[in-house]
Amino acid sequence: MVIAIDGPAGAGKSSVARGVAAALGFTYLDTGAMYRCVALASLRRSRPPGELAEQISLDLGRRVLLDGEDVTEAIRAPEVSERASQVAADPAVRRAMVAEQRRIMAHGDWVADGRDIGTVVAPDAALKVFLTADPRERARRRAAEMGADPETVLAEQMIRDERDRNRPESPLRAAEGAVQLDTTGLTLEQVVERVVALARSERAAAR
Ligand code: CDP
Repeated sequence: MVIAIDGPAGAGKSSVARGVAAALGFTYLDTGAMYRCVALASLRRSRPPGELAEQISLDLGRRVLLDGEDVTEAIRAPEVSERASQVAADPAVRRAMVAEQRRIMAHGDWVADGRDIGTVVAPDAALKVFLTADPRERARRRAAEMGADPETVLAEQMIRDERDRNRPESPLRAAEGAVQLDTTGLTLEQVVERVVALARSERAAAR
């Protein structure tokens, strides 16, 4: 079974997805890390991002390996976030990433987070969740995580959200049938509990 969690930057997708995966014994797939790896590769090498997306080798375990190199921390740098949202608008990059994500999730139980999991990658997912939160709260959370200035994070986040929402290819939006969850003012535990409850009732209904 697949649980799709989509939403804008800093809505809490990855923490929620990890928590839900741990609670249910599913495996977590961080699709954002895949776009971030393409971005890092393209900051280092002047090749078309679509070409790089086809060539790089990724290992998305506990650490993220790009062509064998541990880039777990490097892909979280602000310039990589910005470049990720640029390369993610490229149809050739998306084609390669989506094919890989579908291949990975073809068997087993998965919680995947991103922008297009419910709309494109896994439209038949058993449960689709669209996480949102007030932009200021999202920026505050991300700034606290990174030890960065909230105003700077907010400004960068707005640019990235705008680009992700308005690109012609797989724009960020809630999938049909997605449960929308506003996490403003909720704790991580509350959100995880809510998604786990939804997943359990989906599983019970499917039996
Ligand atoms: O953690 P955060 O939400 O800030 O970003 P992320 O999930 O790591 O994704 C980084 C960028 O990759 C996003 O701004 C999107 O442009 C892109 N992305 C995408 O287009 N589709 C996905 N399924 C995942 C990420």
